[in-house]
Amino acid sequence: MYPQSYSPAQEIDFALLLVFVFSAVVLVVLTLVTCWFLWRYHHKRNPTPTDIRGNVTAEVLWTVLPFLMVMGLFYYGWTGFKALRTVPSGAMNVQVTARMFSWTFTYPNGKKSPYLAVPVGGPVKLDLKSADVIHSFYAPAFRIKMDAVPGMDTYAWFRAERAGTYDVYCAEYCGVGHSRMLTTIRAMEPSAFTAWMAESGPESGPEAGKKLMDAHGCFSCHAVGDEKNDMGPTLQGLYGGKVTVTDNGAEKTITADDAYLEESIRDPGKLLVKGYDNVMPPDADLSKEQMNAMLEYLRSLVSQSANGSGHAGHEHHGNAAGK
Ligand code: CUA
Repeated sequence: MYPQSYSPAQEIDFALLLVFVFSAVVLVVLTLVTCWFLWRYHHKRNPTPTDIRGNVTAEVLWTVLPFLMVMGLFYYGWTGFKALRTVPSGAMNVQVTARMFSWTFTYPNGKKSPYLAVPVGGPVKLDLKSADVIHSFYAPAFRIKMDAVPGMDTYAWFRAERAGTYDVYCAEYCGVGHSRMLTTIRAMEPSAFTAWMAESGPESGPEAGKKLMDAHGCFSCHAVGDEKNDMGPTLQGLYGGKVTVTDNGAEKTITADDAYLEESIRDPGKLLVKGYDNVMPPDADLSKEQMNAMLEYLRSLVSQSANGSGHAGHEHHGNAAGK
């Protein structure tokens, strides 16, 4: 079983256990009764069958007993469901944006992160949105799974009882990168969470660009450094290099300059790099400053490739956050 750190989780687990135990008991009792009937009413022991016509007691029993059992199961299922759907007051609202193939979490103060940071003990309400197709936010440790559907607002809530890092999966097949659409819930002590929320990274420059790209999920598909990630073209050494793209079916080779990279971020499908599918979601709302920071970061990857550093994997958020 997954570690349990959720209050409605207890209701869910109890309902699951109840259904399991109930089914097990029914299975064992029915099997024993069937065996007994086989033995008792074998034609050697019971040569003449009895012709029974109606039995009110039996009929009442087999109607009322299953009714009570099923209503009991329903009651516990329903209380668990109600606990999942009733958000306690004072919950922190976090906007969750799902896209192919990453998650972005936006906090009440406007901060964004590619993983979900929460304070231990505090209820958290997730407002789910999808930027493209149907995804599903699945955090098994908290017993929550909720679809993110384009054009529809959905929600879920949970409470982390213990500090730690918990897995989050996408539980709805959404394309070739579905299996990599992973992130984590990082439950921190309230004081650490307050400090984390107040942290703001650099406003401009390559570090800001890297943070921004991380928050936008770029690194889920694009490799940096010597990472193995072939969902999208590698970002290492991309800036200023030659790329072969498809323009309305015709192939051509162009230089990855500012104009091309900006267009590729805002409207990825227009000049698609040869060999890749048109799966990147457009990011048309980036400000000029944000775009410049991203371009500066991409530029910095070229100078870094020379000395072999320049890795920006998912474990670097802490370093990138700055003070
Ligand atoms: Cu997103 Cu599967």
